[in-house]
Amino acid sequence: MIRFEDVAKIYGTGATGFEALGGVSFQVRAGEFVAVVGPSGCGKSTLLNILGLLDQPSRGLYALGGREVGTLGDGERSQLRRVKIGFVFQSFNLLPRFSALENVALPMSYAGMGMEERRARAAGLLDRVGLKSKSLQTPLELSGGERQRVSIARALANSPDVILADEPTGNLDSRSSAEILGLIRELHAQGKTVFLVTHDPGIASSAERVLSIKDGRIIEDRRR
Ligand SMILES: Nc1ncnc2c1ncn2[C@@H]1O[C@H](COP(=O)(O)OP(=O)(O)O)[C@@H](O)[C@H]1O
Ligand SMILES: [Mg+2]
Repeated sequence: MIRFEDVAKIYGTGATGFEALGGVSFQVRAGEFVAVVGPSGCGKSTLLNILGLLDQPSRGLYALGGREVGTLGDGERSQLRRVKIGFVFQSFNLLPRFSALENVALPMSYAGMGMEERRARAAGLLDRVGLKSKSLQTPLELSGGERQRVSIARALANSPDVILADEPTGNLDSRSSAEILGLIRELHAQGKTVFLVTHDPGIASSAERVLSIKDGRIIEDRRR
């Protein structure tokens, strides 16, 4: 379902160019749960941003669902991202002036859904992550764990096949972390393909597949 063939990312150009990914190859089947681990600065977010169609590889092939997507222009890439990919970030990236419900409903408007349908669907997603009673609160009125629940609900807005979570528990206490991980595992159980960047060895050891990255290269690809 996902195929990377010698994917590299170079930030900048010429002598000042920096190779953040140095030619990465792997395949992931639909429905797999992949943990991505490695030291800070090794290229995990760069990898996820390319996977999530936020960024373009400098070379190599990226096939998503049998289609080459690495060479798509910005417009086509973001259209595809809206329907195929759900992103969860360490820093939540919620809009502070909007309610939880509005944050979750927002991606649906890009997908052309009408307002009533958006509100109903967003309410259902917030219920699913246990936040039904807080749907009208803004991010500042929510705890870190609750904010991350909102962002998981938002990631599900357009029913993506692929969930990409970049250190989603990095700003959370251990109890909230466990709850967020539980939700992410549920998504996997429901058939989503999940990539989870994590520093936590405990989480990594429980994943069915672990990609270890160092200096922009995969140094280990372990399946259980
Ligand atoms: N937009 C950018 N411009 C230049 N260098 C970048 C950019 N983004 C990341 N880098 C560099 O690429 C390397 C990998 O970064 P990143 O993928 O964020 O690592 P990780 O997520 O593993 O901490 C780091 O050395 C970082 O400084
Ligand atoms: Mg990172």
